[in-house]
Amino acid sequence: MTDYEFLCSQLEALTQGVASRISNLANAASLLYNTLPTLNWAGFYLYEDGALRLGPSMGQPACVVISPGKGVCGSAFAAGETLVVPDVHAFPGHIACDAASRSEIVVPLFGADGEVAGVLDLDSASPARFTKKDAEGLEAFARIIEKEVFGRA
Ligand code: SME
Repeated sequence: MTDYEFLCSQLEALTQGVASRISNLANAASLLYNTLPTLNWAGFYLYEDGALRLGPSMGQPACVVISPGKGVCGSAFAAGETLVVPDVHAFPGHIACDAASRSEIVVPLFGADGEVAGVLDLDSASPARFTKKDAEGLEAFARIIEKEVFGRA
């Protein structure tokens, strides 16, 4: 099982004092992808010009633009809530970037203004890969991204 406390301390150490948003999100994606078992994608979509746009990520190339309300990412963005999808084939409107993906978790990221600034997205080729513990751990991870990358108090 993933030690999220340790993962969060690694993220803090990697991001503190780094001014570049892209550098921090790139290292955060790498940290997740290389630490959590059985992922096939880990990365970020950032809200820019009215849509979610692909940010730093690890894994296969992915779709570059997602409209708010579309797919798992757009749904979590619009709701401002974490979405855990145990079977992506059963999720209406799921956007299949990699046909191998079977389960997914998306955590919204809040900016300094309190609005959703983007999402953290993890995919797995294993069904029901993400548990409540993962959701809690990844939300703690997201709070650090918000503070260190988006300047949220
Ligand atoms: N499956 C996502 C799209 C992004 S990829 O998984 C990287 C969705 O339905 O929003």
